[in-house]
Amino acid sequence: MRKEKPSKTAYKVALNILTLGAIPEMSEVLPAGIVDATAKLLVSSGAAGERTVRWAKSSKSVLVSRAFDWIMPGQFEAFARRKAFFEDQVRKGISAGATQVLVLGAGFDTLSWRLAAEFPWVDFFEIDHPTSSLIKANGIESMGAQPNLHFVAGDLVKRRLVEVLTNEEGWSLDATTIIVAEGFMQYLPPEAVQDLFTQCALISDGGRIAFTYIPSRLNGSPDAGPWTGLVLLLLKLGGEPWLWSIRPEELESFVAVLGWKYSPGLITSSCKQGLEFYAVATH
Ligand SMILES: C[S@@+](CC[C@H](N)C(=O)[O-])C[C@H]1O[C@@H](n2cnc3c(N)ncnc32)[C@H](O)[C@@H]1O
Repeated sequence: MRKEKPSKTAYKVALNILTLGAIPEMSEVLPAGIVDATAKLLVSSGAAGERTVRWAKSSKSVLVSRAFDWIMPGQFEAFARRKAFFEDQVRKGISAGATQVLVLGAGFDTLSWRLAAEFPWVDFFEIDHPTSSLIKANGIESMGAQPNLHFVAGDLVKRRLVEVLTNEEGWSLDATTIIVAEGFMQYLPPEAVQDLFTQCALISDGGRIAFTYIPSRLNGSPDAGPWTGLVLLLLKLGGEPWLWSIRPEELESFVAVLGWKYSPGLITSSCKQGLEFYAVATH
């Protein structure tokens, strides 16, 4: 991806959250407070102006998003369910005793910021590309920094996770950690994904990882729905190509050799929404 600008895909997810908030049924699915927090973050970080935010929240924007849903069928509303899924996983993880949350490729997601205030005894760490991380940290600073929310800048293809977290103030190797990788893994090359799971196992003894993944077609390429060729081309042209995908039936053995136990029983919702599959693994 192009490093000098914040992630376009993260920006699009955030705008979708605002638009979903304008649909009554979806605002019931979305986690409480997410729409306002996302709007504030986009403006305070300078990623979007007030006018863009107003447009994204409008009924016209809902119509446009629905009109373009044929490109990735079901994906627009899936973003609301995805946010609900990860929030549920983190809340359950904290109830089960986790005291550290690590969000990989956090983008403009506001889960850590919202939950950091509610759970002051839990430390939240977010990693993203340096440009995306910096712009977000600045935005959060003006919204109200939380002492237990830490921003870590790092390219997880160029630097290994353990190295990125070493010397990070407050990071504990002993804490029970829940790792979140929402809409993230598909942007990494396959060898980086494998290494990342191994690294995650090293830093998360007794913890769990919740993630989404894109299923593979029979030929091994990502299955982006009926318009796969077009979608993959657009992502590539946008500078954020999808590089990794896996067939759902291969996931259990894939994570097992990397130190994780695939745990579908921990998913209470449907394990597929839009184009993406949800997964949880424990260590
Ligand atoms: C589709 S966005 C998802 C953002 C967020 N997780 C969400 O769902 O709202 C993908 C995110 O992964 C980040 N990302 C992609 N490749 C990365 C890498 N090699 N190292 C760190 N972050 C990366 C991007 O900067 C972007 O914020």
